[in-house]
Amino acid sequence: MMGVEHIHALGALAGCEVVALCDPHHESLDRAGAALASSPPPIGAGSSRGTSVARFNSVDDLVATCDFDVAVVATPNFTHRAVLEPLLHSGAHVLVEKPLCTTVSDCREVIALEQATHVRGRVVWVGLEYRFMAPTMRLLEHSRNGELGRLRMVAIREHRFPFLQKVGDWNRFSCNTGGTLVEKCCHFFDLMRLILGSEPTRVFASGAQDVNHLDEMYDGKVPDIIDNALVIVDFASGARASLDLCMFAEATKNEQEISVVGDLGKVEALVTEGVVRTGLRANGWFQCEEDRIGHGDVPASVLQHGAHHGSSWRQHMAMQSAIRKGAPATVTTHDGLMSVAMGEAAHRSIMLGRPVLMSEILAP
Ligand SMILES: NC(=O)c1ccc[n+]([C@@H]2O[C@H](COP(=O)([O-])OP(=O)(O)OC[C@H]3O[C@@H](n4cnc5c(N)ncnc54)[C@H](O)[C@@H]3O)[C@@H](O)[C@H]2O)c1
Repeated sequence: MMGVEHIHALGALAGCEVVALCDPHHESLDRAGAALASSPPPIGAGSSRGTSVARFNSVDDLVATCDFDVAVVATPNFTHRAVLEPLLHSGAHVLVEKPLCTTVSDCREVIALEQATHVRGRVVWVGLEYRFMAPTMRLLEHSRNGELGRLRMVAIREHRFPFLQKVGDWNRFSCNTGGTLVEKCCHFFDLMRLILGSEPTRVFASGAQDVNHLDEMYDGKVPDIIDNALVIVDFASGARASLDLCMFAEATKNEQEISVVGDLGKVEALVTEGVVRTGLRANGWFQCEEDRIGHGDVPASVLQHGAHHGSSWRQHMAMQSAIRKGAPATVTTHDGLMSVAMGEAAHRSIMLGRPVLMSEILAP
């Protein structure tokens, strides 16, 4: 799924051409090839896509025989660590889908390898692309420019449909995904850190698998992925954040709603509708400005094919710009690690029934 979204996003990126596809699953390779063939020709070139693209079944073969500048890793979460190994050794720039890995210890190993294989100007970027949704970007501007005063609370609500079907049903088991609060919610933990400009200190969560996938069976096993949770996070700045996740809430207008409150005012983003509201306490009740920003400048070909309001395309533009300028990644492997660590802390809190200190999770 995500590989195809990336292909369509890259198709709308000037100066970029997909030169190879890699997947051990033939049907996925065919689907990716079809997506590539249906994309418009590379911007600035005249040829059609998808005909001369090399195909590989293993990343080792890809690295051994193919000449490429950037690799995009959109494989199941539990494979990220192994897939990244040859790619990091190759010296190519890498965008790896979230979560960076399924555990903090795997994230640390990847970061150690990134450092050991350091190449000047090489960009390693984690695909936490909710940062690049137009309403989220606007919310970040309002949160960080001082107009809201000192930031005190962040509330994020995601009410949505259940997890989709994946190739080989890997996302039905926490050992493959890292658990719902790592797999899905790393996006929101990343946003909390970014909005507040502070680090989490303590996480308290309650959650369960109450409704979804209980009637499914894979190799004799029932899925073990939670489908609803409430998570509270304390930050070093004194701010607190909450996440309200429900994955059996199809009857929802805005899949994500994000609210940030400072001592002077508030901003909220209704992501699906593309609405951002801001207001200052000094102006009193109901004095909010409502901006219907939609999803910004995203090309129609991208919006049509992506499930993330064009954020993958914006993310690729940001990464391309960093590569060209020799600038570091905006979304680093450290960001990837922290978003996984917060999810891991939330899962541990549910298991133990008590708050978990981030220092417990991040201890060497
Ligand atoms: N950023 C987002 O919002 C977002 C949304 C969905 C998925 N994702 C992430 O994207 C990644 C892929 O998810 P998906 O939904 O596309 O899953 P998917 O099951 O639809 O596709 C994964 C593909 O990877 C292939 N694969 C498995 N092992 C491989 C290997 N060693 N080398 C090459 N290919 C391999 C599979 O055959 C499959 O075709 C996951 O990490 C997932 O968490 C991110």
